[in-house]
Amino acid sequence: MISAAKPIIGKEEQEAVQRVLESGMISQGPEVEKFENEFAEIVGNRKCIAVNSGTSALHLGLLAAGIGPGDEIIVPSFTFAATGNAVALTGAEPVFVDIEPNHFCINPEAVESAITPRTSGIMPVHLYGHPAAMIELQEIADRHGLIIFEDAAQAHAASLKGKPVGAMGTVAAFSFYPTKNMTSGEGGMIVTSDPEIERKSRLLRNQGMEQRYMNEIIGFNTRMTDINAAIGRVQLKKLPDWTMARQKNARYFDSALSGVVTPKVADGADHVYHQYTIRSERRDQLAQQLSEKNIGSGVYYPTPVHRLPSFASDLELPETEAAAASVLSLPVHPSLSEEDLETIVRACQ
Ligand SMILES: Cc1ncc(COP(=O)(O)O)c(C=O)c1O
Repeated sequence: MISAAKPIIGKEEQEAVQRVLESGMISQGPEVEKFENEFAEIVGNRKCIAVNSGTSALHLGLLAAGIGPGDEIIVPSFTFAATGNAVALTGAEPVFVDIEPNHFCINPEAVESAITPRTSGIMPVHLYGHPAAMIELQEIADRHGLIIFEDAAQAHAASLKGKPVGAMGTVAAFSFYPTKNMTSGEGGMIVTSDPEIERKSRLLRNQGMEQRYMNEIIGFNTRMTDINAAIGRVQLKKLPDWTMARQKNARYFDSALSGVVTPKVADGADHVYHQYTIRSERRDQLAQQLSEKNIGSGVYYPTPVHRLPSFASDLELPETEAAAASVLSLPVHPSLSEEDLETIVRACQ
């Protein structure tokens, strides 16, 4: 069986968890602080606030930047529901727009057309590990006085023109869910260069408290535990090698696959291949062929977020609908052997 995704948990992760368990300090503590400081190194030394999921990172990041009822945030519909959910949970309205077909990320022209007097921000998603068109988006944001919230849940260590994702918008959110390029079990990271947003995020994470029992604002318990942070710290060290392995696997597929559209990479983009996503009109048939050979694959995402029962919009977003009907993600994780890669290519013929 070749699985679609495979978290790699080794001896070091086990030892790190054991160390935390033996310390007796298993909730948020020194490991979380170290994880935040170490993660900062891959996001241009911005401030990092660890939380219990990528969804919490998005949600708290928005709240900390003052987003709430009356605001509109422009988001792509071709993403995981968490992107839209996080916006809606603040009381703001997610305004869904189309993607550009080459890299599956939000289309800057569609963003510009969707701006209204209530628009407060844009939330590009670095989908599949490919950075969104941040230069064009920043230019639009600057012209209209908008905040950029990066959904970097799938794009640890990706970059655009040498700038890491997470270090471009005002706020960014990463996820450490097990299938991501690195994991902490469950977990997320808010990243920002704004000291006020940092402070507010820390307050929101912990019931609105900086000082114990002196709750300044109404907050959540979205803390990360030291157990999760200890796993995350080990995984962060392994991330560069894993990223290279994903990119090597992708290069192999780029040259060996035929009869399908292989992923395109924008000029200056360093794609970290959270997913290796092809397009084919025979998508369902290919998925079936792979499954018959015991090879996992995935459709991310079969239903555009605006069409889900939770949002139920009848907006027409043609590129989003076309992508949902034709994408297929092949296994690209670092545990694949050369033989696995050959087997996958053969099964796609
Ligand atoms: C694009 C995107 N945004 C947000 C999330 C939410 O992250 P989490 O599952 O850690 O809450 C995910 C991952 O699941 C994601 O893929």
